[in-house]
Amino acid sequence: MTVQNKTFYIKVNPDNPEDKIIQDAGRILREGGLVAFPTETVYGLGANALDPSAVGRIFAAKGRPSDNPLIVHISDNGQVYDVADDITAPAQRVMEIFWPGPLTVVLPKKAGVPGEVTAGLDTVAVRMPDHKVARKIIANAGVPIAAPSANTSGKPSPTTALHVLKDLEGKVNMIVDGGPCKVGLESTVLDLTCEPPVILRPGGITREQLEGVIGHVEIDPVLIDDNQNIIPRSPGMKYTHYSPEAEVIVITGRAEPVTSKIRELIAKHRSLGHRIGVLAPTENAGVYDGHEVYTLGSRSELESIARNLFYGLRFLDDKGVDIILAEGYPRKGMGVAIMNRLAKAAGNNIIVV
Ligand code: TXA
Ligand code: MG
Repeated sequence: MTVQNKTFYIKVNPDNPEDKIIQDAGRILREGGLVAFPTETVYGLGANALDPSAVGRIFAAKGRPSDNPLIVHISDNGQVYDVADDITAPAQRVMEIFWPGPLTVVLPKKAGVPGEVTAGLDTVAVRMPDHKVARKIIANAGVPIAAPSANTSGKPSPTTALHVLKDLEGKVNMIVDGGPCKVGLESTVLDLTCEPPVILRPGGITREQLEGVIGHVEIDPVLIDDNQNIIPRSPGMKYTHYSPEAEVIVITGRAEPVTSKIRELIAKHRSLGHRIGVLAPTENAGVYDGHEVYTLGSRSELESIARNLFYGLRFLDDKGVDIILAEGYPRKGMGVAIMNRLAKAAGNNIIVV
């Protein structure tokens, strides 16, 4: 199937998806086309993982570098044996406990998985999403589905179907709109081919949750320490990511110095004639009155901050601001993933006060 410049956009009932929509999506995927669909983390851009030309279309549509491997999505636990080998007891335990859900496991790959999916690596990343629409589409397609986030490479991941439409209209065959994503940040990527296992990308499942099940898990110290503002060089982490058009600065530290620093930066940028956007928790939204403020949710509910983060970056971009000032969060629990995405959106421009 070729991807015509016409994209079929359709709304689906997320709790009880219409059969016709699932069948159309499944057929397009079987025929080698591209379908964007909702998952609980972010929207994915799917193609048949066993068809190298279909997988090639994903890279073309996103403008993604071909050396960044894709996650293979499955619709039930047993399907992991079709794509991965040497599945150890800890791997089995995390899949049993966290699937379906925002956890991707890296395992030795089966020979049948094309090198285009894994960027030539001998491992494969696998995930079973916790979203009815995603699982039904994958099951109907009857093949494992390679699916990166459905954004143009480098942009914030899409948490609504309209984000996908904005980035990929005319470049994909179908966009299935199942409403906003519940988690809002991508899955945690856990490498289980080494001992102890290593978190390659923090995400929807926290290190604490993983350690509760399989004991010690390694994480790059850079991800959990505010004072080591260096971008980690694990796979897929070396590219510019989550970057809105506006310049982003993250200000992190104790509450009072953070708000004072942001007010100081507001004054500086206003004097330069810049339009200013602020990403703030509910508690501090009022502090930045008079500017374009996007409220992410309460500081005491990091899940809500995570859910709204990419939405907020895209929202402020659409308002045409020149600079986005974002409050930071403690690098614990979900805060690790939030700060990782903020740091990358900011090109690591982080001020610790
Ligand atoms: O939540 C998610 O994971 C979303 C939804 C759509 O499922 N998908 C997603 O895919 O975020 P993507 O392509 O944007 O990110 C995949 C990440 C990249 O950092 C990539 O380098 C890493 O997974 N990855 C994929 N295969 C890998 C492998 N074999 N070894 C190490 N890292 C791998
Ligand atoms: Mg992505």
